[in-house]
Amino acid sequence: MACFFRRRAAAQLSRVCGAHEDVFIPLLSAAPVSKKQLTPVLRLSVNSLVKKGVLPPDADLQTQTQRLAKQLKEDGVVEEVIPGRGVIHFRINRLLLAQKLLEQLHSDPEGFGRNSELLGKAGGRRTLVEFSSPNIAKKFHAGHLRSTIIGNFISNLKAALGNEVLRVNYLGDWGMQFGLLGAGFQRLGSQEKLRENPLQHLYEVYVQVNREAELDEGVRLAAAEFFRRLEQGDGEALKLWRHFREITVDEYRTIYERLGVYFDHFSGESFHQSKTQEVLQELRSRGLLRTTEEGTEVVDLSTSGNQSSFATLVRSDGTSLYITRDIAAALERRETFGFDEMIYVTDKSQSHHFQQLFQILKAMGHHWADRCVHVTFGLVLGMSSRLGNVVLLEDVLNEARRRMLHNMKEAKTSKELTDPELTAEQIGVSALIIQDFKGPLIADYKFDWEKVLQSQGDTGVFLQYTHARLCSLLRSQGGGDQTVFDASHLLDDRSISILQHLLRFDEVLLQSASDLQPRHLVNFLLTLSHLAASALRELQVKGSDEGVAQARLRLFSGTRSVLGSGMRILGIRPVERM
Ligand code: ARG
Repeated sequence: MACFFRRRAAAQLSRVCGAHEDVFIPLLSAAPVSKKQLTPVLRLSVNSLVKKGVLPPDADLQTQTQRLAKQLKEDGVVEEVIPGRGVIHFRINRLLLAQKLLEQLHSDPEGFGRNSELLGKAGGRRTLVEFSSPNIAKKFHAGHLRSTIIGNFISNLKAALGNEVLRVNYLGDWGMQFGLLGAGFQRLGSQEKLRENPLQHLYEVYVQVNREAELDEGVRLAAAEFFRRLEQGDGEALKLWRHFREITVDEYRTIYERLGVYFDHFSGESFHQSKTQEVLQELRSRGLLRTTEEGTEVVDLSTSGNQSSFATLVRSDGTSLYITRDIAAALERRETFGFDEMIYVTDKSQSHHFQQLFQILKAMGHHWADRCVHVTFGLVLGMSSRLGNVVLLEDVLNEARRRMLHNMKEAKTSKELTDPELTAEQIGVSALIIQDFKGPLIADYKFDWEKVLQSQGDTGVFLQYTHARLCSLLRSQGGGDQTVFDASHLLDDRSISILQHLLRFDEVLLQSASDLQPRHLVNFLLTLSHLAASALRELQVKGSDEGVAQARLRLFSGTRSVLGSGMRILGIRPVERM
């Protein structure tokens, strides 16, 4: 709804400066709420007009600001035009702000912010997001958990902005580790343990056989032999491999469900096995692949052609590598899904890998490689479980639920819940997500159970708590009268600061969509929750005059829907009671 006000200011600017209204829309932003700043204001940096070529670059900025402010007129919507230091402030009429904003929130709560004209260019594409992508048998580390929640957020955000999103899980289900695992399982594995606790058992076997392989040449040879059999399509070897894959995927599905994450495709490295030969053939025919003295085949990626930087695509025994399969996967996806953009989410240790991948795709003449993005993130320190620094996702989820359930029992405010375990789980997961999303994704952070689950302060628990309180208020008042609503009861500073903040929702979504960082949205929702908490304290509904009560309920209902909608984009399921 910021649109309505931005349009009015833009129309004025267009009249004075000559350029089309649309030029000004993205340059106008709602001022963040602060103690000093309690009037609803749109801001425009005069320098941005110079950058856009609307104003000449040579003149003094301050003089230009003053002159422009004088020429702009006040009207019923923009009540005052105030020049600042290189900025122009458009003060908006409070009554109109409350009316317009809450009307739109009421008629289209889900579309609020998302349908803003500001976001026009962020939608309408087909986006493939590849995320989570754990390895079968190898450890599921905190990085996979991060990839899972970050990829889910990016998918939700892209979908919310009107893109067609394809969620792909690219399992590490091929490669030399299956040689080790296959060879190892034949000696060390137990079908019974595999049934009982597949992920853990496969991992134990894998660790054991890895240890042996370090000391024993024989084990290494057996592993290489097993992998070669796999690549050549040996039925026995494939049968075992398929079994490992199936039980692992089943297990993961259950866990993803608990996290509230789903995939459109469970693909994997093995899917693209057959295509790799074709890809290699193409690379050879283009003269991009060279055989080295050791018998490996490499692509030269150096600018000078001296192989100072290269990628190995074929081992000396003829088997493929991780990057070989990634090239094949990218090409097949492009053929099958015809995506406009593709986003890969993994930790920063794989930056080099993706750089090389994109470079090779481009060398093959695929210009769409420019629309492939690698979203990276840092390490989580100190997250551990039964197997040491290996994270069993299940353990993390169980621990979050256990601790949350305990906290809820202690809290005096807790409500009677039909399914306390489920509520505890959903809140626990939100807490993990917010802690992870608060800072820049590239930063490492230290994991701390105590901090994660605090109900005060900037946590996921606090967001859930605020959401539940708003729901409880609306429930107890029967949701409020949906027809009557007099915005003149919402002109106090508390109400206006919430409305002013809501005005920023579309800008924040745009910011997160531009750099694919969740923290803008997280901070927005945390501030919204703080504002809502003060409003809940100070703006009484019960006992107020009918008109006042109804207007406040409208405000709280709008606040709740933006909070809920933002939380869902982050991948959090808002609870209605806690
Ligand atoms: N399975 C890989 C790992 O755990 C991540 C896969 C990332 N995606 C890709 N297309 N390479 O390290």
